[in-house]
Amino acid sequence: MFNARLAFPADFEGWRAAARTALALGVSPEDMSFTVGDEAPGLFAEPLPAPPENAPQPTVPRAFPELARKLVCHADADRFVFAYQLLWRLQTEKTLLDIASDPDMIRAAEMEKAVRRDSHKMKAFVRFREIEDNEIGRHSIAWFEPFHHTVELTAPFFARRFAGMVWTILTPERTAHWNGEELSFLPGATRDMAPADDDMEALWLTYYASIFNPARLKVKAMTAEMPKKYWANMPETALIKPLVAGAEAASRRMIETAPSLPSFRSERLKERNAMTLPRMEKTPEISPGLGYNKAPDTIEEAREQAAHCQACALWEPATQTVFGKGPEDAPVIFVGEQPGDQEDIAGEPFVGPAGKVFDQALAAAGVDRRQAYVTNAVKHFKFEPRGKRRIHAKPNMSEIKVCRWWLDQERRLIKPKLIVALGATAANAVLGKTVTIKATRSKLIDLDPETKLLVTVHPSYILRLPDQAAKERETKAFEADMALALETVPELALAG
Ligand code: URA
Repeated sequence: MFNARLAFPADFEGWRAAARTALALGVSPEDMSFTVGDEAPGLFAEPLPAPPENAPQPTVPRAFPELARKLVCHADADRFVFAYQLLWRLQTEKTLLDIASDPDMIRAAEMEKAVRRDSHKMKAFVRFREIEDNEIGRHSIAWFEPFHHTVELTAPFFARRFAGMVWTILTPERTAHWNGEELSFLPGATRDMAPADDDMEALWLTYYASIFNPARLKVKAMTAEMPKKYWANMPETALIKPLVAGAEAASRRMIETAPSLPSFRSERLKERNAMTLPRMEKTPEISPGLGYNKAPDTIEEAREQAAHCQACALWEPATQTVFGKGPEDAPVIFVGEQPGDQEDIAGEPFVGPAGKVFDQALAAAGVDRRQAYVTNAVKHFKFEPRGKRRIHAKPNMSEIKVCRWWLDQERRLIKPKLIVALGATAANAVLGKTVTIKATRSKLIDLDPETKLLVTVHPSYILRLPDQAAKERETKAFEADMALALETVPELALAG
């Protein structure tokens, strides 16, 4: 029996080095154990000897290192041996990662999902409190209790997001510290080491009260997304009860007053403006074996997978993936270009100004949007920060191509009778080739024996038209296209 000693609970590099050595020595997973820090190894376990000279490097599929990195973050005490077992099997079973029904792959997928969720919760629920430190000046400190060993995995997110701050995230097991330039990790801490109160907290409470949108209040969903476990560290939870109690009256007030942009938008913008759009990298090919354990079986599953999509660089500056919305058996899919500023914040397609034009045209044609599935060719908002604003930037061909995988999943799962492409980007994404609106507009094109395509303009084209007469003319033509959609698929009709 051999043992490898790792430095900390999610020591991926330590695990990788030990796993390579063990593999080179031919140590089977049953004969391998790992200990962390000063944990005592089993009575008969010997330290791993040095690997033989010129031992070959193991070969693994491209997706494995990322998977292993997540597996070693899981709370499962057996995680290191399990990851090693996968590596061991991969030496002879090259397609193992693609076998979704293999019990080890089922276990790996569950572990990976749990770690991703834990990391997501940390991103969402860490709350910094600011103190004035004699030595380093303003210092933001947060206390958080992750369930899995996700501090190292998640800290780079905070380093990117809060690059201009000096911050420390204390957890019972590990501490992450960002000095403004470099990320470092220290031993764990206790809750009383985090400051309890400060100006920032008062500011945050005001902010939370102002972003709390009573019209969208879903207490059940809120408690599911924000488990009570995290409430103790989140000052705004003290506000939830009174806000919920006042929600109905506040909702009425909101309807009565003119809609205004949610104030958290400006907070988001401030955060975003600190960042520049990352360089477009070569887009990796997405496939069930690469990054996703399997192609989704339902739209819900696709939405959950897409929420973590990082297949192109657009995911990072965007607030979230904006996946399609509508019934899973909708007879029609409307495809736009990409979410805009408001969609990016709301997480739903076509809810901003272009959505208003779209809704008005649907209503004028007698189409019920609720019967349709509405989505976009690209699922993340691409923008360029300009001052305090985020200016829409057109997605390029490679972004459209990479994101087409999601559109294909939506098409495969929904099986619509008709796809309506709103604008040239959508038409290109659906057809997989460049077409012009002029050549394709208002015709019913056969995509396959069951599905037709109707190409029309994008609603923002109408919004941008400077002169009123052109606006009216184009609105009528757009409404006529919506009426053609209804004529082709009468199930879209508004009731009554
Ligand atoms: N424009 C789009 O193409 N899609 C949206 O969801 C919003 C604006």
